[in-house]
Amino acid sequence: MTRSEAAPLRLLLVVAVALVDRDGRVLVSQRPPGKQLAGLWEFPGGKVEPGERPEATLIRELAEEIGVRVEEPCLAPLTFASHAYESFHLLMPLYVCRRWSGTPQGLEGQALKWVRPSALRDLAMPPADEPLIPFLVDLLGP
Ligand code: C5P
Repeated sequence: MTRSEAAPLRLLLVVAVALVDRDGRVLVSQRPPGKQLAGLWEFPGGKVEPGERPEATLIRELAEEIGVRVEEPCLAPLTFASHAYESFHLLMPLYVCRRWSGTPQGLEGQALKWVRPSALRDLAMPPADEPLIPFLVDLLGP
């Protein structure tokens, strides 16, 4: 059976953020062992809970996972990732945030690093995240 004849994939809404520092670098987080896509570097974020506004998800996830506070006015999606994984279709708005406070930490044991937008191309990222890189290079420079 081809994919077009099969039952539609469940839609999963995940928000992701490009947190930008003063040097124009972007924060990426490594998916921890035991999770799907373990070891890959991703834009931080998480699943939008039923009834939750995506911007509220972003604020919540960044506080829980990275320990930073983002201010809502800085949040507006730059673009959307859309990728069919084997068991779900991921729709993922990417927000860009330059105004935030706190010191980023991997509060769930995950590694974090700051990279230039063009250096994102050298990282192993989930297939949904990779197509977002050119948007960040255009917006922030290489
Ligand atoms: O992080 P979490 O496991 O809740 O995300 C659900 C799924 O969304 C992941 O298994 C992964 O396939 C996908 N995802 C992604 N890129 C991200 C975050 C999540 O492809 N930045």
